Amino acid sequence: MSTLTINDERFLSDLYHLRTFGADGIGVIRPSLSTPDVAARHWLRTRMEEAGLEAQIDRVGTVFGRSPRPGPALLLGSHTDTQPKAGWLDGAFGVMAALEVARTLREQPETAGLAVDVASWIDEEGSFLGFLGSRSFCGLQDLSLIDTATGRDGRLLVAALAEAGLAGRPRVQMEDGRYAGYLEAHIEQGPFLEADGNRIGVVTRIVGIRTMLIRFTGIQNHAGTTPMPMRKDAGRALVEFVNRIHAEFPKIAGERTVWTAGRIELDPGAASVIPGAAELTLQFRDPESEMMNRLQERVFELAAEADGDIGVEAIMEPGTVEPVAMDEDLLEQVAAAAESHAPNNWVRMPSGAGHDAQVLALRMPSAMLFVPSIGGISHDFAEDTADEDLVLGCQVLATAVESILKAAPAAPPSRPA
Ligand code: GLV
Ligand code: MN
Ligand code: MN
Repeated sequence: MSTLTINDERFLSDLYHLRTFGADGIGVIRPSLSTPDVAARHWLRTRMEEAGLEAQIDRVGTVFGRSPRPGPALLLGSHTDTQPKAGWLDGAFGVMAALEVARTLREQPETAGLAVDVASWIDEEGSFLGFLGSRSFCGLQDLSLIDTATGRDGRLLVAALAEAGLAGRPRVQMEDGRYAGYLEAHIEQGPFLEADGNRIGVVTRIVGIRTMLIRFTGIQNHAGTTPMPMRKDAGRALVEFVNRIHAEFPKIAGERTVWTAGRIELDPGAASVIPGAAELTLQFRDPESEMMNRLQERVFELAAEADGDIGVEAIMEPGTVEPVAMDEDLLEQVAAAAESHAPNNWVRMPSGAGHDAQVLALRMPSAMLFVPSIGGISHDFAEDTADEDLVLGCQVLATAVESILKAAPAAPPSRPA
């Protein structure tokens, strides 16, 4: 099926090198536009240039390497920014696999004329604005938000971009008519592949993600002198609300529904003060939009029920992403590549994590493949994958790219922004 063989050692060596930017023990701390993140972007741009790509870091920080070959092209990518305390492979694997595929194609005469562009989309993890790079490329980012967005580190996005020397640069934008599609390789970040002894996951759908902010307003007072019946404790109301969510969501949830109270803040958050205000970030995910609507409605109902002595207000946070299906044709090509390298050892599966592919899918046919995560652990220092699985995932990507490009029509489809 394939004539392409990736260079395992080169791929792993660069992937391990990327791990050194922001390394903390076995983990990585490399949120968007932090010092190690910016250094990693410059390093990656140089690697792209060496691979014969026309490389740049754009106005929002995306590292983009464009093949000088004419289309139809495949766009490959993922992200190199991380969560605040992260593993070394989330996003990084897909970017380095993309680069290795571009290098391999160029080196082998039979595929040297094929066009592959490579991207490291900035801020998939939402330190400032989730999916900023892929949304900006696709013309789907509300540009006014860029001026006002503030990062988890308290910096304005525009200030962080200026500090990184990126202010005033051109923004990379999708070229209509160039792309046959987008492919992203990623670690699974969950337990299913490992548990079932599979080595490759071919992604069918990506979950939607909605995040709600719930604010509780009580009365701040002295924790020693205020009798229990006289308290208006916003913190207690928050805890009771979280318990209500955990009791009520299972009654309507689907098989793949998940929800997380990921951030809780008590104001003022002191041992001897009854919290006068409290804030909760509740996120929920599901592969189906209808289910997401039901969950959202239920949160509003529960907030209205709880609203009384303690004020309760629920607000949708920006950055919602809807569930999206992967492109059937591309998905079948990835499946064929998986079968050729891991016969009977791969599976079709939905993604429970969000990915830039769900943004790209709104503009062009898109597909993804997964490799197993050891112990199903991710968004944690302990995230890991066996080297052989990383290499296999990269090889499957290379084979899929070759077969897709060899079959691509001269004028590929694109969808309006
Ligand atoms: C992406 O990192 C996600 O949270 O799914
Ligand atoms: Mn992530
Ligand atoms: Mn990721």
